[in-house]
Amino acid sequence: MKALEGIKILDFTHVQSGPTCTQLLGWFGADVIKVERPGVGDATRKQLIDVPGADSLYFTMLNHNKRSIELNSKNETGKEVLTRLIEECDVLVENFAPGALDRMGFTWERIQEINPKLIMASIKGFGPGKYEDCKVYENVAQCAGGSASTTGFLDGPPLVTGAQIGDSGTGLHLCLGIVTALFQREKSGRGQKVTCAMQDSVLNLARVKLRDQQRLAAGPLKEYSQFGEGIPFGDTTPRAGNDSGGGQPGRILKCKGWEQDPNAYTYFIIQAAVWEKVCDVIGKPEWKTQEGYATPPDRLDKLNEVFAAVEEWTKTKTKYEVMEICNPQDIPVGPILSMKEISEDEGLYATGTMVKVDHPERGEYLSVGCPIKLSDSDVDVVRSPLLGEHTHEVLSEVLGYSGDELKRVVDSGAVGEVKA
Ligand code: COA
Repeated sequence: MKALEGIKILDFTHVQSGPTCTQLLGWFGADVIKVERPGVGDATRKQLIDVPGADSLYFTMLNHNKRSIELNSKNETGKEVLTRLIEECDVLVENFAPGALDRMGFTWERIQEINPKLIMASIKGFGPGKYEDCKVYENVAQCAGGSASTTGFLDGPPLVTGAQIGDSGTGLHLCLGIVTALFQREKSGRGQKVTCAMQDSVLNLARVKLRDQQRLAAGPLKEYSQFGEGIPFGDTTPRAGNDSGGGQPGRILKCKGWEQDPNAYTYFIIQAAVWEKVCDVIGKPEWKTQEGYATPPDRLDKLNEVFAAVEEWTKTKTKYEVMEICNPQDIPVGPILSMKEISEDEGLYATGTMVKVDHPERGEYLSVGCPIKLSDSDVDVVRSPLLGEHTHEVLSEVLGYSGDELKRVVDSGAVGEVKA
């Protein structure tokens, strides 16, 4: 048995944010029915194509464990089928542009009339207010959520991060909202509306920078490298390069082979508790007791010198050797792993964090598996559906259409080309 077995999800999501959420629900065992426009489908199916004629990796990696039904939700018969789906499902998840569902005739009020137990979950770029009608993509959310202004180096422009905190991050938030609403429904018997704005989710993930914004009122942020370098602070949280957000001095340092390998680097943290061990490891035992170096406050204006010395040592070791030497001594370090290294890491396949999936159009490909492990609900990653692969199955098995009624729906053109 899977955790969400028996829960039906009407998956009206597209691109990345919504599909991340419904894929997780599918991994937890829900029956996810993805509704797609006939003949077109989710736009990502045909974006960033690497194998001609096959669904893209963008699509396949976000839509595992789902069934696909083609349905024109703007056509009268299509609306009838959608109404039946709303009756049958427990949750409707959507991330259309603001107002799109209303324009189809499916307002929250109408949805509650059709199925008062339904949980309706939506992702929008912004919450209520001046930007509520905007269409929003990943990087817009990273910028509007405060992340970009605090990412990058002091002397450079704001930067977005490669982790998709706006899309996948919001999908994760929405998923939590959905299972929480399902839990509440057990007691209340009612559905409810769950909404997540991408701006809000990014801000939630960037909260340490809002913490620092407030701390500025009490003076300069002493743990920032900028402080030790004597550079004055302005009135907003500055970009802090690779400083660690937790207040412990940390940097990304070169390791052996850095001249050829762009990822021969390690993250290295100097915590007060392990300072003496760091001094011994890097061959600077005198710093353990030397005035100006022995305590964390003393070192703040010497971090460049200290990290330069640490780097002289890390440059003589590979990033893995640094890990092997420092980890047993509790010195926090982390190798900078490339996507190539990650995709070749057998340990990640053993835990199901990375998976190999077979696909009829593209053959075998790699994907991330479920990052959340439940001891009593195994995850089997099932390949993404082809467009409309389950239209007939959903119409007949889930909605009970058969005979003349099924023929009427198919002949109306509302559900694309149906293969029985
Ligand atoms: N049948 C008929 N029409 C359908 C349909 C179906 N099965 N599925 C979608 N449509 C229609 C919608 O109703 C909409 O029509 P309308 O504009 O007449 O109301 C139209 O297709 C386009 O939908 P929209 O959501 O506006 O797509 P878009 O490609 O223009 O915009 C986003 C894409 C992502 C910018 C936008 O959906 C958005 O802002 N979403 C919320 C935030 C979000 O999730 N962003 C991140 C995505 S990773």
